[in-house]
Amino acid sequence: MSTRFSLDGQVAVVTGAQGRLGPVWVDTLLEAGAVVWALDRPGASASAGFDALQARSDASRLFIGTADVTDRASIEAARDAVLAKSGVPSILVNNAGIDQPPDSGTSRARIEDLPVELFRRMVDVNLIGTFQMMQVFGTLMVERGSGSIINIGSLYASVSPDQRFYDHFPGEPPFLKVPSYGASKAGVVSMTKYFSTLWGGYGVRVNTLSPGGVLGAQDADFKQKYSSRVPLRRLAAEDDLKGPLLFLASTASSYVSGHELRVDGGFTAW
Ligand SMILES: NC(=O)c1ccc[n+]([C@@H]2O[C@H](COP(=O)([O-])OP(=O)(O)OC[C@H]3O[C@@H](n4cnc5c(N)ncnc54)[C@H](O)[C@@H]3O)[C@@H](O)[C@H]2O)c1
Repeated sequence: MSTRFSLDGQVAVVTGAQGRLGPVWVDTLLEAGAVVWALDRPGASASAGFDALQARSDASRLFIGTADVTDRASIEAARDAVLAKSGVPSILVNNAGIDQPPDSGTSRARIEDLPVELFRRMVDVNLIGTFQMMQVFGTLMVERGSGSIINIGSLYASVSPDQRFYDHFPGEPPFLKVPSYGASKAGVVSMTKYFSTLWGGYGVRVNTLSPGGVLGAQDADFKQKYSSRVPLRRLAAEDDLKGPLLFLASTASSYVSGHELRVDGGFTAW
């Protein structure tokens, strides 16, 4: 592989690392040679994907730690652990995030009854959590004079969810994909631009990687409706996300900052 894509000797931090996509980012960074700190909130239960990755990984390059991105003290404790063992990281992937799955209780509220607390919680984790991570870890990169920060956005930062993807779900009131998720992710895209300008003079690049829907346990009707709406005619596979992440993390993207890289199969081009 070209050294342009090598992360040998680099230290990376990934938040929300033990969920669905966390292991995809961690695996990509490990494969490219980095030492990776996989952080998640205290008490998070690891996904099967994360367990499998941990089982096959070299324990001298994969460290597991805790950080609740909504809690500044928790982030600072994680920073201290990373610094003590590995030094200043050069890559930060702000992946921790919450959405509202179709089978959750609040997904059946009418828009006028949607609990405002749900809105606040999504903004707190997805947007303010990303902000606090950049405050604590990004500042270290600024002091050192280099780094790449990748904030995980979403397709729904750019476009509203198409409620017709979900209109085959039975139940009353009908399932409603909430407004707070996309709003919080649009905030992430905007904040990425802010930090890219603030820190560009200090050698720190800041970009957003926005995945489209990733193939998982969705029902057949959803998959058919969603896929027919995508120019590439399918949901993303986990592997589709690895190249874009490596591009943004490595010197292959040395002149890319403030960008939103949409990995959505062309969804937003239509
Ligand atoms: N899966 C998709 O199709 C998809 C598509 C677009 C964007 N995304 C984004 O990718 C990221 C990862 O999504 P996922 O599908 O892996 O979700 P997931 O729910 O499987 O994983 C999210 C992880 O974040 C952690 N987390 C939640 N609150 C936290 C907090 N306060 N502090 C630290 N960690 C916390 C959870 O413990 C979990 O491990 C999210 O930002 C999500 O919005 C996912």
